Amino acid sequence: MCGIVGYVGMRSAQDVVIEGLRRLEYRGYDSAGIALVDHGTIASDKKSGKLANLEKAIEESPLPASTIGIGHTRWATHGAPTDRNAHPHLGREQRLALVHNGIIENFAEIRAELEAESHELLSETDTEVAAHLIERELDKGVDLTVAMQAACRQMEGAFTLVAVDSQDPDRVVAARRNSPLVVGLGEGENFLGSDVAAFIEHTREALELGQDQVVTITRDGVAVSTFDGEPAEGTRYHVDWDLSAAEKDGHDWFMRKEIFEQPRAVADSLLGRRDASGRLQLDEVRLSDEDLREIDKVIVIACGTSFYAGMVAKYAIEHWCRVPVEVELASEFRYRDPILTQRTLVVAISQSGETADTLQAIRHARSQGSKVLAICNTNGSTIPRESDAVIYTHAGPEIGVASTKGFLTQLVACYLLGLYFAQVKGTRFGDEINQIMDQLEEMPAHIDTVLSHADEVYAMAKEYLGTPSVLFLGRHAGYPVALEGALKLKELAYIHAEGFAAGELKHGPIALVDNGLPIWCIVPPRGRDQLHEKMVSGIQEVRARGARTICLAEEGDTAIEPYADVLIRLPKVPVLLQPLVATVPLQLFACELATLMGHDVDMPRNLAKSVTVE
Ligand code: F6R
Repeated sequence: MCGIVGYVGMRSAQDVVIEGLRRLEYRGYDSAGIALVDHGTIASDKKSGKLANLEKAIEESPLPASTIGIGHTRWATHGAPTDRNAHPHLGREQRLALVHNGIIENFAEIRAELEAESHELLSETDTEVAAHLIERELDKGVDLTVAMQAACRQMEGAFTLVAVDSQDPDRVVAARRNSPLVVGLGEGENFLGSDVAAFIEHTREALELGQDQVVTITRDGVAVSTFDGEPAEGTRYHVDWDLSAAEKDGHDWFMRKEIFEQPRAVADSLLGRRDASGRLQLDEVRLSDEDLREIDKVIVIACGTSFYAGMVAKYAIEHWCRVPVEVELASEFRYRDPILTQRTLVVAISQSGETADTLQAIRHARSQGSKVLAICNTNGSTIPRESDAVIYTHAGPEIGVASTKGFLTQLVACYLLGLYFAQVKGTRFGDEINQIMDQLEEMPAHIDTVLSHADEVYAMAKEYLGTPSVLFLGRHAGYPVALEGALKLKELAYIHAEGFAAGELKHGPIALVDNGLPIWCIVPPRGRDQLHEKMVSGIQEVRARGARTICLAEEGDTAIEPYADVLIRLPKVPVLLQPLVATVPLQLFACELATLMGHDVDMPRNLAKSVTVE
């Protein structure tokens, strides 16, 4: 989820691009870079770290004046956040400069093809591969627009690409597939940005591009085409947000924006995970198949929301791989003298990659000879650096303190790990794994459906304004969802909230139930295992004692209807994957209730985004 800017006009391109990058820095800050077209050459600079590092470098070693340029602020996906991996990337002859957001899924194949033609690639990024590819097209004597179209036809995945050609000082060309890009329409100048925040201070007239489109901006015009070179059209609109709303994509909070970004984040976390033959490939898993086959126990360690993702991992890995899985709070782990051997795989889940409790736990595990695999959202952070292997979640930066898209993409990474492990151990057939992958790939659309009912959840939040306490009940994979729903409410609304395994109610917590107590019930899908029926009985029991039941149940579940005071429908999905849809209304509820209570949702009291002390 990087930030991208492009400009052609009459002003200093450096000023416009740097200002645009500053507005987009919330999208990523692992590195920043700029490229300008200067009398037949590309002048560029790039630096790891925040934009300020790039600004300092340019101050010390100024770039030539130019009125056409591109810029990038990076959230690392392929390759560590270093100077070398920073964008822009140049083509072989340094004629073309390119910035990119997204993941090119078939980059390894293209890279091999280019290397066979003696292209020397200097970085670990998929972007440099694309730069060489587009420049190779330019060498055929076509213009940048045609070269971009031809290159896009060869690439798979999700990408926004923005390029300039040193031999063509009049055009910036961009392309998009499954990744954002908007055009800012000016007078005698035009702009490109990952979102309107990049250019909102210069123009409020914008053009939204469709899927698989290429756009060419010049000083006097904008031309849109398909990847096949057919003329196409974008959708023109007027932006009436202020700058801060623009950064939040029109939402009031980063958290709400991140909740609505979840379909995209989940799709990104699934990108590039299957090879051409359909087998799962997790290229950041640096453990050999032999190592993985030897594993006889998995211990998941994590804190807070990440811990709940770990609980779901237990259900999935044990079911698919038949290997015992323990889930431990990282802060407790090393103090109880855990049994760790070389055949134990420790899975550390951390959005930030910097949580001190989790870091200390993995250090302890490695000192005992166990292998550690990190599931992490932050490329180059300490936890993946100190682990034997890593699966990145590709959610993009999470700015709201309460984790949302971080959690959903952690779930995806846990499923991927379980399926990969099953593939290596041979505990599931390839077609079963492919079937579950197909179901996972349908999840972004299902999450979208849940989000389209946000207003119903908001109306309920209004109704429960002032409630002192809320309970959450779940079973199986719905139990961690109940815990996560309660945590979100505690963090944001500062009210008493607790999640329970529904079967435990009668062993004590049912004493809490009183007239009017709101209880969220995550109803498992109907299946062969009586889970659903048992949950319905539990719901009847609390309702009989005066609770108001807010039930999350799959489409077509009529058995729940008589016992639900409020019924929110979930798409029909398998029980193990249900957390991906069932969590979303709980996030919306907590966000809305806290907003109505006048709390700062992005920065709740007493909390920090990254907890770097034990
Ligand atoms: C809850 C939340 C925290 C984190 C926890 C672990 O919304 O954000 O509970 O999940 O502090 O953080 P990471 O995943 O960065 O290790």
